[in-house]
Amino acid sequence: MSDKIILLIIIIFLNWVFITLWLYFIIKALLQFIFAYWVPFVPTPDKKIKILLDNLEIKEDNNFVDIWCGDWRIMASVEEKFPKINVYGYENSILPYQKAIKNKQKNNLNYTVYKKDFLKENLSKYDVIYCYMIPYMMPKIWSKIKKECKKWTLFYTSSFDIKSEKYYKKIEIKKWNHLYIYKV
Ligand SMILES: C[S@@+](CC[C@H](N)C(=O)[O-])C[C@H]1O[C@@H](n2cnc3c(N)ncnc32)[C@H](O)[C@@H]1O
Repeated sequence: MSDKIILLIIIIFLNWVFITLWLYFIIKALLQFIFAYWVPFVPTPDKKIKILLDNLEIKEDNNFVDIWCGDWRIMASVEEKFPKINVYGYENSILPYQKAIKNKQKNNLNYTVYKKDFLKENLSKYDVIYCYMIPYMMPKIWSKIKKECKKWTLFYTSSFDIKSEKYYKKIEIKKWNHLYIYKV
């Protein structure tokens, strides 16, 4: 092979590496930017809701909240299983919020759903907090909960753990899809 062909192959290879790296960083930055302002509605599967209910450590008159509540299923399931507790949810997108309101009326339920960004709200009244969110939000949420909530408040997180903190309990479900419980 002549020197020119070898040089050409090297240049093509380096170009390919360069373009691939650029694409990787651009797509990563774009996704981070999008998910910083918008979180899609991805519901907790029914099977996992049942596991959550079976492991919910909650007392009469406690306040339970789903801080990213989506439609209504978590709030309704908790209220149905524990009718004596107060159930709340925060949802900042209009469609899941409307669904939560509609289903509350249709099924004669008592939960309270706020169309608000929970990050701007004070969470101190809640005894048990549930969330199913995205991994990079976990440190921010956990420091908010630790700052605002009472000691012994329980924080249930679906799928994504808090890397810097030792959980109080871990309920193993599937390979990466566990339920973690933290105590303030
Ligand atoms: C992954 S879904 C979880 C839904 C529900 N908790 C469940 O497990 O079935 C996240 C929901 O949180 C809502 N959301 C995202 N950021 C929020 C915020 N800052 N405050 C309130 N709701 C938010 C989204 O609109 C979306 O419907």
